Amino acid sequence: MSVSYHKPVLLDRVLELLRVDDCRVVVDCTVGDGGFSKAFLTRVPEIQIYGFDLDPEAMERAKQRLAAWSDRFHGFLGNFKDVDELIPPEVVGHVDAVVADLGVSFLQLSEANKGFMFSENGPLSMKMGPAIERDAFTVINESTERELADIFFHFGEERQSRRIARAVVKQRQSAPVETTTDLAEIVRNVSRKDHVVKTLARIFQALRIYVNDELTSLDHFLPRAISILRPGGRLAVLSYHSLEDRRVKRFIHAQEHPCTCPPQLPVCICGKKPTCKNITKLVRPDADEIKRNKSARSARLRVVEKC
Ligand SMILES: C[S@@+](CC[C@H](N)C(=O)[O-])C[C@H]1O[C@@H](n2cnc3c(N)ncnc32)[C@H](O)[C@@H]1O
Repeated sequence: MSVSYHKPVLLDRVLELLRVDDCRVVVDCTVGDGGFSKAFLTRVPEIQIYGFDLDPEAMERAKQRLAAWSDRFHGFLGNFKDVDELIPPEVVGHVDAVVADLGVSFLQLSEANKGFMFSENGPLSMKMGPAIERDAFTVINESTERELADIFFHFGEERQSRRIARAVVKQRQSAPVETTTDLAEIVRNVSRKDHVVKTLARIFQALRIYVNDELTSLDHFLPRAISILRPGGRLAVLSYHSLEDRRVKRFIHAQEHPCTCPPQLPVCICGKKPTCKNITKLVRPDADEIKRNKSARSARLRVVEKC
């Protein structure tokens, strides 16, 4: 039976901007269905890839798909926030390229038992893997109204956050909110009719980000990714919503301009040097790619080079 794997987003640009043809050691922090890893392995005969994912099913799928390169693809379960500890110590500081393709894959979204989609009935899980401690059921049924409103607002940028939190708390007084359909129903009942789909998307996104602690993982990951690169090595980060992209952008800016001297000083005396430099403006998929691959819709790619 043929499997329809996740279609990698901005693949050609990633290959080009990471200068993959010159790479020998690459870290794929979000292997997913192995789309990027497969492209690297096919293109560069000597390349060694260290790959990670939180999801054991995704890693299993990727390992099967990449079985022909099992001597060069080293796949492990793990959270990319610990990337510097997940790769072999002798590789730290010698990595040519790191890629992180954030979020979830097309296949994960379509697996109802993961509970990521409001359009598929499933349990309120949203855990990317067993290492994630809490699930969306616990968050929805045990958080206070204030906590829920904050989650919806901070991680979904949802303006009706308080109204929706109130409705969730009211509903769960009679019975726990068990499934994605239960939650979607509550959200639908209090949303403006012309905004229902956007509101549902924001609430489900907020819960997923909170459950998996996605923004904290990203903050931990970025400096560690730079630390494992060799000088001249490159990091590519693909994000899919503005909360992630804003963090990546701010991180890059802080690394490029670390000097803390007062602006009136003629020369720097703090001694803080840039750790990396931007090598391209923000890259977005073109209309043609978005037409061919729905997963590309909101993608934003940033690439930096270690100094
Ligand atoms: C967009 S998909 C990657 C798709 C992949 N590039 C491909 O071409 O098939 C994102 C993957 O990252 C994984 N993931 C998300 N957050 C993670 C984290 N903190 N650590 C490790 N893997 C993570 C998800 O489980 C998912 O499989």
